[in-house]
Amino acid sequence: MGKENQDEWIVKCPKCGRIRESCRHVSRDDVRRILRLLDAGVEVYQADDDREPPESHVHEPPRPVAQAVQPRFTLKDIVLAETTREGLLDALTELRHKGLMYRRWGLKKVLKKTKGLTLLFAGPPGTGKTMAAEAIASELGRPLHVVNYAQLENMWVGETEKNIEHVFHTALDAGAVLFFDEADAVFQRRSYMATPWMNRDVNVLLAQMENYPGVVVLATNLAKVMDRALDRRIDIAVEFPMPDAPMRRMIYEHLVPKEAPLAKGVDFESLAQKYALSGGSILNVVRQAMRTSLRRGKRHRITMEDFIRAADREVKKSLLTSADHLQAPPRRERIGGYA
Ligand SMILES: Nc1ncnc2c1ncn2[C@@H]1O[C@H](COP(=O)(O)OP(=O)(O)OP(=O)(O)O)[C@@H](O)[C@H]1O
Ligand SMILES: [Mg+2]
Repeated sequence: MGKENQDEWIVKCPKCGRIRESCRHVSRDDVRRILRLLDAGVEVYQADDDREPPESHVHEPPRPVAQAVQPRFTLKDIVLAETTREGLLDALTELRHKGLMYRRWGLKKVLKKTKGLTLLFAGPPGTGKTMAAEAIASELGRPLHVVNYAQLENMWVGETEKNIEHVFHTALDAGAVLFFDEADAVFQRRSYMATPWMNRDVNVLLAQMENYPGVVVLATNLAKVMDRALDRRIDIAVEFPMPDAPMRRMIYEHLVPKEAPLAKGVDFESLAQKYALSGGSILNVVRQAMRTSLRRGKRHRITMEDFIRAADREVKKSLLTSADHLQAPPRRERIGGYA
């Protein structure tokens, strides 16, 4: 291990598996001593037969885990607003030059520890937040560990605190980017919560985040309902706005494959001008236009008409999904002409 990799070093306790800072068995000073020894090039061995099985493997119940995802996207795949791109590049710059900032530029002396990086991605559905989390991981050459609300609910069962710790430790061990999807549901403002036990669990999560030396990304559609205690723990907040017309045009160009047989007259510019859709909805339009074209037969090309029908349908779909079907049905006579 070279000196420049010091930030990546992980000290693992053979008894409880805890890492980096300290635990019941290994003090902070011990950890520092180990790092000094490693720095000097010392190698430490333990004979196989002397080794005690780690406590964490004995009688430990299986713990819920985050879902490990191999990132598929890079930054080039995402059409980004300028401010969004700036935020992502800031994050990548710090992560790539952490050693320089903390050691050579002395940040570690001020903070007394190497801090992790917590990012908030906030914006409407389908604006590229999940894509960007994958892109951050792939730009860093790391896996992505995804935790969504359903997985966290599993952690509330049984030993919540240990379950949550386990997720953070596993991510750190794997050098993964830890991604909390639907973070608004997870980190709801405590005053919004129904039961006090949930309060305690948010505290546990916040404490873990505070001490976590790795990368955490939180994604939300509803930043407003999130616990205000999070604000202080977020290092970089990145906004994912609805794309404007020039961005929508670029998204069509990204999402319609070169191989797709387009008819003459398909005009992304006018689709982008006419329909104010998110990137996720544009993906649906592209797929629907392909389906409509295929229903005419494989030899047919995808026409502008196919795209227009698909986009009209996508706009109607969003009206349909935003309607509240639990409301009493409108009185027949009020639906003018169709009653
Ligand atoms: N800015 C974009 N550039 C290119 N493609 C995009 C963009 N935004 C969305 N897409 C397309 O839409 C799909 C869905 O986007 P994504 O899952 O990243 O949205 P999201 O912001 O995470 O939404 P949600 O809040 O619902 O989780 C992507 O896989 C991609 O195909
Ligand atoms: Mg998402």
